[in-house]
Amino acid sequence: MSNLREHAETLFASELEALAAHDDKPRPDQWKLSPWAVTDYLLGTTLADGTVITPKYIGDRRLMEIAVATLATDRALLLLGVPGTAKSWVSEHLTAAVSGDSTLLIQGTAGTGEEAMRYNWNYAMLLAKGPTEEALVPSPMFNAMKDGKICRVEELTRIPSDVQDTLITILSEKTLPIPELSSETQAVSGFNVIATANSRDRGVNELSSALQRRFNTVVLPLPSTLDTEVDIVQSRVASMKQALSLPAEVPALEEIRRVVTIFRELRGGATVDGKAKIKSPSGTLSTAEVISVVTNGLSLAGHFGNGSLNAHDLASSMVGAIVKDPANDPGVFREYLETVVKERDGWKDLYRACREQL
Ligand SMILES: Nc1ncnc2c1ncn2[C@@H]1O[C@H](COP(=O)(O)OP(=O)(O)OP(=O)(O)O)[C@@H](O)[C@H]1O
Ligand SMILES: [Mg+2]
Repeated sequence: MSNLREHAETLFASELEALAAHDDKPRPDQWKLSPWAVTDYLLGTTLADGTVITPKYIGDRRLMEIAVATLATDRALLLLGVPGTAKSWVSEHLTAAVSGDSTLLIQGTAGTGEEAMRYNWNYAMLLAKGPTEEALVPSPMFNAMKDGKICRVEELTRIPSDVQDTLITILSEKTLPIPELSSETQAVSGFNVIATANSRDRGVNELSSALQRRFNTVVLPLPSTLDTEVDIVQSRVASMKQALSLPAEVPALEEIRRVVTIFRELRGGATVDGKAKIKSPSGTLSTAEVISVVTNGLSLAGHFGNGSLNAHDLASSMVGAIVKDPANDPGVFREYLETVVKERDGWKDLYRACREQL
């Protein structure tokens, strides 16, 4: 039996080991790798002995350098962007490469309380013995401070603002007071925070300016070109197929290119050649959705088809991803199919398969 989803530091343990062995650049205190090697881990490279480091983030190297450099300062890192721009993904890989541990994670929601940021109590022990060190249940933040690691905070802007404020003390004083024990935990070097936030959520709980000043913000963009996005989808689908043991062939690049084209056109409101305007449906239509459409298609092809992805397999999951609002989206997608997809050379199979689903 294997874990459904391994942590990055487990999955890429051999890459991280090889990078560490070749790493001759200065490492900040407690870092497993130098900032340079962390960036190589993210972007991929070939080491002197021929070891291949696979790319995790496909995009601008400079952005990753800025993110990594920030972590080596006393400021925290905020990864901001629209949904599906690899914020969580980059955050996981950054913590795996820097601290060797991507598991210190606080998931931000409207219900996230202060204890998720600080500590909680084992109430049975608390009632029996009163507040003691043994009765204290540390939060991931608490552990990160104590061990000099990086703590991840997902969806920071969804957390209520009074709870967000707890972070200000942590980030500026680098200490966590424990009044019940008349003590505190001080952060040791290596500690930092990576938060992610969805730019669409902004305004839900706009970050206070005091908190904003403790973060350097790196905005992760949507893939700038069709080719980059095809590249991302291709490599993620290939690894998902392996992880899920899907009995199907990795689809041809041309097939992925068609799906990416459709998503980019609907998302951008124009055909890729810029000649025709298109209405956009209500859903997110991010790269993450394209990845799951192709992966779902592969699962259908592998388990119910002949193992090779066809238009039929794609259409079923594509319609589900594009049509979110049953009132408007079917019409929008139908119009796109009639005016764009139907007219393209060699796209008739996809046109017919999608029309059947609508
Ligand atoms: N530039 C990119 N390079 C590599 N993978 C990418 C890129 N953009 C998107 N992905 C892939 O998209 C998927 C979704 O990414 P992720 O969940 O990190 O998005 P997110 O920005 O956190 O979205 P959300 O705001 O919905 O939480 C991941 O599988 C990731 O590998
Ligand atoms: Mg995320």
